[in-house]
Amino acid sequence: MEKYVIKGGTVLHGEVEISGAKNAAVAIIPAALMVDGVCRIENVPQISDTDMLLTILKELGAKVRYLNRSTVEIDCTKVRNQDAPYDLMRKIRASYYLIGAMLGRFGSSKTTMPGGCNFGVRPIDQHIKGMTALGAQVDIRNGYVYAEAVGGRLHGTRIYLDKVSVGATMNIILAATLAQGRTIIENAAREPHIVDLANFLNSMGADIRGAGTDTVKINGTERLHGGTYTIIPDQIEAGTYMVAAAATGGEVLIKNIIPKHLECISAKLRETGTIVQEYEDCVLVKGASSLRRVNVKTLPYPGFPTDMQPPMGALLCLANGTSVITEGIYDNRYKYVNELRKMGAEIQVDGRVAVFEGGKRLTGAPVQACDLRAGAAMVIAGMCASGTTVVEDIHYIERGYENFVGKLNAMGAEIEIIDFPEEEENLKKIISVS
Ligand code: EPZ
Repeated sequence: MEKYVIKGGTVLHGEVEISGAKNAAVAIIPAALMVDGVCRIENVPQISDTDMLLTILKELGAKVRYLNRSTVEIDCTKVRNQDAPYDLMRKIRASYYLIGAMLGRFGSSKTTMPGGCNFGVRPIDQHIKGMTALGAQVDIRNGYVYAEAVGGRLHGTRIYLDKVSVGATMNIILAATLAQGRTIIENAAREPHIVDLANFLNSMGADIRGAGTDTVKINGTERLHGGTYTIIPDQIEAGTYMVAAAATGGEVLIKNIIPKHLECISAKLRETGTIVQEYEDCVLVKGASSLRRVNVKTLPYPGFPTDMQPPMGALLCLANGTSVITEGIYDNRYKYVNELRKMGAEIQVDGRVAVFEGGKRLTGAPVQACDLRAGAAMVIAGMCASGTTVVEDIHYIERGYENFVGKLNAMGAEIEIIDFPEEEENLKKIISVS
């Protein structure tokens, strides 16, 4: 099993180029299913989630061609409504977008219940509420979600989301795009990747307004034509490198970003004493000699992103004083805290609140990546710790960060990816020499 072996004491210096937004790409690729023509999509991140979705589209009969590392051509002219591979769909949360896309294109869908990072209960009741309101009959049985548009085609409606949900907002946009008539989504999520999906669909002939606000209006169209679209830079990847630069006390230029998307992260880092200088499409982060404690509450966009909560937790272990994180989105997104405790961190968790007693030097240890963003947090902690840290379950990290180790090592990190066939012996050897 491959693991990251991280030599501590890193101070990051240099620059990093941000890739395309994972949470936009995992909705835009399924959206290509609805296009009767060829979509050329640029700035697609090279991560396992996008690979899996492209494989699923191929299984449905799409022609998929990589023109270069980050540009893919998808032709869904000849796709058929057939069973997509169960074992791939159940691995990723974003497989739920196939419901909206296949309902829109074929009038029916058969998908698995979504997989993805496991932090607390992650229902899809708001997705089902939306599809039902659009005129679909939805049944969940034997691990599958069956949806069928009554009368063969969905019809426009008005939907008020009980919870601000990124996935449900995007899924309903997908399904409504080819529905008969007008759909209005109220209490919609406003994340940048929702705007990106709407822009992609509009560039293919859809008629979607208000994405990025809490009310989205979709006038259903008959078909979507092909075209070219460039995915926005990844807000969370950029934020992760900003926090890594601040935590290691380094100086990093983060390139190919949209500063507006990072406002909350920049503001919070400035509160810690970190210098954050914004330019048109890049941001310069200069770590402070000592980090001030801060409080963080995660909220829907434009609040502090929940996906930045674990990386911020790693940083707060190092900040002087007591910091408090309140997780406003998920029931249980603190599994990584136990892994930080193995490195000497002092953290108390009570429900959605975590209290960090900072100012401690972390020590290297064998730890787990409990999920995608928790894994990034462990890498940040490992770079800051004294000694060597071994991170396992790195497949989570590779779901959402393109070339994570390569980008960090180019800025001075010392991370090796080592295969540990004989688990224990090697691990003990590595830790004992540190
Ligand atoms: C998306 O997940 C992202 N995943 C998550 O990023 C991100 O954490 C989340 O949005 C919030 O920003 C993808 O885009 C693939 P939600 P999603 O629906 O759509 C509850 C990462 O690290 N809820 O906005 O699943 C839900 O339990 C991943 O990149 C319902 O109750 O998130 C949560 O408490 C992790 N019913 C809250 O709403 C529903 O039908 C927000 O979830 C749907 C959600």
